[in-house]
Parts: sequence; structure tokens; C-alpha cells
Amino acid sequence: MSKKIFVKTLGCQMNEYDSNRILDTVKEIGFAKTENLEETNCYLLNTCHIRHNAKEKVYHEIGRIKKKFEFKKKPFVIVAGCVAQAENDEMLKREPYIDLVIGPQAYHKINNKIEEFLNKQKKMEETNFDAESKFNYLNQIKNSSSKVSSFLTIQEGCDKFCHFCVVPFTRGPEYSRSFKEIISEAKILSQNGAREIILLGQNVNAYKNENYRLSDLIFEIEKIPEIKRIRYTTSHPIDMTDDLIDAYKFSEKLMPLVHLPVQSGSDKVLKLMNRKHSISDYLKIYEKLKTINSNIKFSSDFIIAYPGEEEEDFNKTFDLIKKVGFINSYSFIFSPRPGTVASNLNLIERQISQNRLEKVQKELFDNQIKVNKSLEKNEIKVLVENRINQSNKFFGRSEYMTSVIFDANDNDVGNIINVKINNSNQNTLFGDSVKKSEQKVA
Ligand code: SAM
Ligand code: SF4
Ligand code: F3S
Repeated sequence: MSKKIFVKTLGCQMNEYDSNRILDTVKEIGFAKTENLEETNCYLLNTCHIRHNAKEKVYHEIGRIKKKFEFKKKPFVIVAGCVAQAENDEMLKREPYIDLVIGPQAYHKINNKIEEFLNKQKKMEETNFDAESKFNYLNQIKNSSSKVSSFLTIQEGCDKFCHFCVVPFTRGPEYSRSFKEIISEAKILSQNGAREIILLGQNVNAYKNENYRLSDLIFEIEKIPEIKRIRYTTSHPIDMTDDLIDAYKFSEKLMPLVHLPVQSGSDKVLKLMNRKHSISDYLKIYEKLKTINSNIKFSSDFIIAYPGEEEEDFNKTFDLIKKVGFINSYSFIFSPRPGTVASNLNLIERQISQNRLEKVQKELFDNQIKVNKSLEKNEIKVLVENRINQSNKFFGRSEYMTSVIFDANDNDVGNIINVKINNSNQNTLFGDSVKKSEQKVA
């Protein structure tokens, strides 16, 4: 029987990148990707631990697989990602259906572990932090991603220890990949068909390799002719250095949407969260970027009802949202995570938290609807990513990352074209292609 692997990915873009790299890696030992669960003999679940119920979701999912294969030969079951890192051998004890638990900094060992299991049938757990060995190994394996918009991890881990966050525990200390290797991977991605590169890191703008910073990577990737757009995520306000801010002045390909999580609009709450930045620091970055280019827009992450958030603090978050006019943002009620400083703090009453979240989301969503509506009857630049199934509609994104659905041709895929917007809703713009263009508007 041929070796087939089915991968299900939960969580952030970095997990998506990792899942693709795992697929590239297991190819070396003969495993081909399948999207048909029926024919798989290896099932891998790449997990996320960021909010509540993450662990239970994983056991639930494994239970589903167990049921599916009840009367069939059991697949080899791997749990990877951030829950695997946090739970390690507990998972093997609690759910014997799992065969291998592997943390995000140990993927270079996955082939050995799979082969060891297939030879000895011994269950294993591998959760050491060894980002350097991981990337040294992965650098030797060609990235086969052929998406028009491709992710490229440049940095992993976090040393900032915000009191609410599990990432420093699940991804380990900050590590930046070699500048040379990143550029070489960007070139490979461009040869595979990538026209947009999204640089990834839990603290992407803390990137530092020798003397190279994120801004150096942006300018170097910009030299690759096939690459038309560059983005990066997720950044932290304290690493928004002047060289990166200046990149918005000089770069031709850096997109004018800045995703900069603020979490709260209150200095008191930011202090309680151990965020290490104030609202005035945040607004200084906002002003500097707006002065460089008034078309730059911001998106953010918000944690609502963090323990200690009073009505007055919440109102400051609301005011900040109104002032900045964020688009495409994420907002969640605080979720206590095991092992973090905030895990045992007194929670704000559920109904109050819910009311605050609804108020914030209404403001964020109304603004998004307003911004999208203002684009109707206008032409915008869209990078065409793919045809939607068998339809005559195509999918692409605006410079501000908004989804766009429009009529186009197969030979437009990978090009930036003008789309006239006819209609819109909160998350999507709808229109027709007008003509091809390679220029950046903003
Ligand atoms: N490194 C980024 C930063 O500093 O903002 C964020 C990375 S984290 C993977 C993504 C988002 O998850 C955070 O910005 C935060 O809003 C949210 N998040 C993290 N822990 C959370 C928690 N315990 N409860 C609710 N949201 C949380
Ligand atoms: Fe988590 Fe980001 Fe804070 Fe690091 S900086 S602890 S990844 S929220
Ligand atoms: Fe989730 Fe880990 Fe990403 S906790 S958000 S998969 S870094």
C-alpha cells in the first residue's frame, strides 16, 4: 500500500507554513499528501493552544478519527503544533490512539520518528526546543508551495512573555533564521509561482540575524522581479523601529496595511498584561506611518475583558478604535491559559465581557463595512490568486488584504489587475476586472 498522509491544520499562518514544510519533509520517506481521509495511513493534526478549549478540541478531533477508522486499519496518528508542545507525553497517556506527539521546534526529527515507529511500534514524544537544528535541516529540503500568495517563516518564538500568552511556552525563545537562507527560499517560492510573500514570525519585526533586520529582508526580497507584493505578520509595537517605518517610504512592494496588535487602549491594562508599550508609543508609530503615507491603514488584535479592565479602561479601547479606524482586526474575550501569569486572575463577569466584545466588534465591523462601501464604483488593484472551484469567478486580495471576488481570465492569475468594485459586504468586495496594471496605488 502506498504511503499517504492527511494533514489537518488549526491555528495561525505559522502552523499553515509548518504543515506545508512537514509535507515537504515526509516526501523524503515516501509519504504523499492526500486530501481524502478514507485513503490515509498517516493522520497529522497540527494544533493551536492560543485560546480556551484548545486541548479538548484536539481530543475531540482524534476521537472523530478513531470513530472513522473503527472498522479499518488504524492510521499512524501524529499530534503536532502548540498543544503537542504544551501537553507532551500527557497526550499519549490520555489518548492511546495517538502514536507520536511532536512540538513545533522538532519537525526536523519527524522522519526519524515516523520510521522508528513503523519499525518498532513504539509511541513517542519529541518536544525539545531546537529551532536552529530544525531550520538547518529544513533549509536542505525544497519548499514546494506554489501558491500565488506564499508564507515564509523568518522568525519563531517569543521572549516577551505577555501575561496572557502561551506562545513563549509553546514556541520557545526568539530565533531568527539566516538572512541568506530566507532569500534563497523566497527565490524558490517565486520560481514556484509566488507573486506575494508574507513574512511570518510570532514577533516578525524582532527579526535579527547578524546585522540584518526585517527592513533588510524586505528590500532584498523586493529585488526578486517576480515578487510583486510583500507583507509581514505579526509585529509588536516595541520592535517597530525607524528602519522598518522608513521601509514604507522607500519600498515599492511593501503593502500599505500594517497589522500591529495593541491588545488594549488603556495604559493600565497594558501594564497588567506586561505589554511593554504604552498607547502613546502606539500612536507615535501611527502618526509616523501616516505622515509617510496617509493611505496606510491599520489592523490589530484586541483582548477584551482582561482581568482588571474597568469600564473606563474599556472605553479607552473603544476610543482608540474610533481614532485609528482599524480594518480587518481580531478581537476576543480574554481566555486564561495554563502556565501563564494571568491564568489564575479573577475573571470579569461573563455578561459584561460579552457586552464589551459586542460593542467593540460592532464598531470594528461597521467601520469595515463603511470602508468597503466607499470602494464601490471605484477601481482597485487586486493580485489574482485563483479561480474559485469550477466557476467563472476569481479570488484575489486588495492591497489592504480584503478578499475580492470578480470576473477575470485564467491568464490573470498571478497578475495585479484593476477591478471595478460593484458591491461589498463586511469581508468581501465584488467586481469585474478592468485592465492589467502592475503599479501600487498607495
Ligand atoms: N505576537 C503577537 C503580539 O505581540 O501581538 C501576537 C501573537 S498571538 C499568536 C495572536 C493574538 O492572540 C494576540 O495578539 C492576542 O490578541 C490573542 N491572544 C493571545 N493569548 C490570548 C488569550 N489568552 N486570550 C485571548 N486572546 C489571546
Ligand atoms: Fe504572545 Fe505576542 Fe506577547 Fe509574545 S509578544 S507573548 S507572542 S502576545
Ligand atoms: Fe496557535 Fe501556536 Fe500559532 S498557539 S496561534 S498555533 S503560535
